[in-house]
Amino acid sequence: MKLSDHFKPLPWDVVAFGMPCYELADVSPEVLEYAKNTPGHYTVKINPLAAKGELHANGFYYCDSLIEPHCSRERFVSHGNPAVRLARDVPFEVVVDLCDGAFFYGRFHRDFNMARESADTRYKNWLKQFHDSGDVISVFYEQELAAFFCVSDNRLMLHAVTGKLQGKGLAKYFWSVVCNDLFQAGHKELTSSVSSTNLAVVNLYASLGFRFRNALDIYHLFVG
Ligand SMILES: CC(C)(COP(=O)(O)OP(=O)(O)OC[C@H]1O[C@@H](n2cnc3c(N)ncnc32)[C@H](O)[C@@H]1OP(=O)(O)O)[C@@H](O)C(=O)NCCC(=O)NCCS
Repeated sequence: MKLSDHFKPLPWDVVAFGMPCYELADVSPEVLEYAKNTPGHYTVKINPLAAKGELHANGFYYCDSLIEPHCSRERFVSHGNPAVRLARDVPFEVVVDLCDGAFFYGRFHRDFNMARESADTRYKNWLKQFHDSGDVISVFYEQELAAFFCVSDNRLMLHAVTGKLQGKGLAKYFWSVVCNDLFQAGHKELTSSVSSTNLAVVNLYASLGFRFRNALDIYHLFVG
């Protein structure tokens, strides 16, 4: 196998950050050595119990831990609210406004080598991709755009509540209407991926009956 086979290119991150971006397929000494000596940004997703000494020795630094919320139709705890409704036809220019300053826990937002605006751009570009393929569900609360959800089959990939409505205990109503819609579409299980440090979203998923699995530590390396 060629060395390049161990580096998975991340074209959407290249657009957001203007530099070569890769995820490492493994952390063998040759791969770490090559990364350390080649300009770009590198991501490693690794079992939290794996040895990390070689990563640190080669300049990698800890950025985040991801966990996978998952819930079956049977376990799901729905919270109804008559003021909440779902829509699929909200223009991108309107939905994208919810991204500004909304994300604090993204791994690129926590990476001290990366510009916050570029990390926001990464989310906006990602949202655009989902919007172009018709996979964005919006939620209104009393006629106001309250939240968006990017979905891929049974997975809630990217989601946010508008800043004005955050922290008011409303998110469980927004999530309920979307999760119910996905279960009604035939999915038997819903999943997501969130930072374990984002306690609001962890508590939110817990209150909806989700459990958590597949923890991963995220390490980054920036070589200028
Ligand atoms: C994360 C997010 C979706 C949560 O929505 P929210 O409207 O702020 O959350 P709520 O006020 O409904 O709170 C959700 C639960 O977390 C708890 N909670 C809220 N803030 C908390 C905090 N800072 N620490 C711990 N728990 C918190 C609440 O008590 C609530 O639980 P309850 O309903 O059992 O009382 C929202 O803050 C958001 O969109 N953030 C920016 C984008 C983001 O981080 N998205 C998730 C990753 S893709």
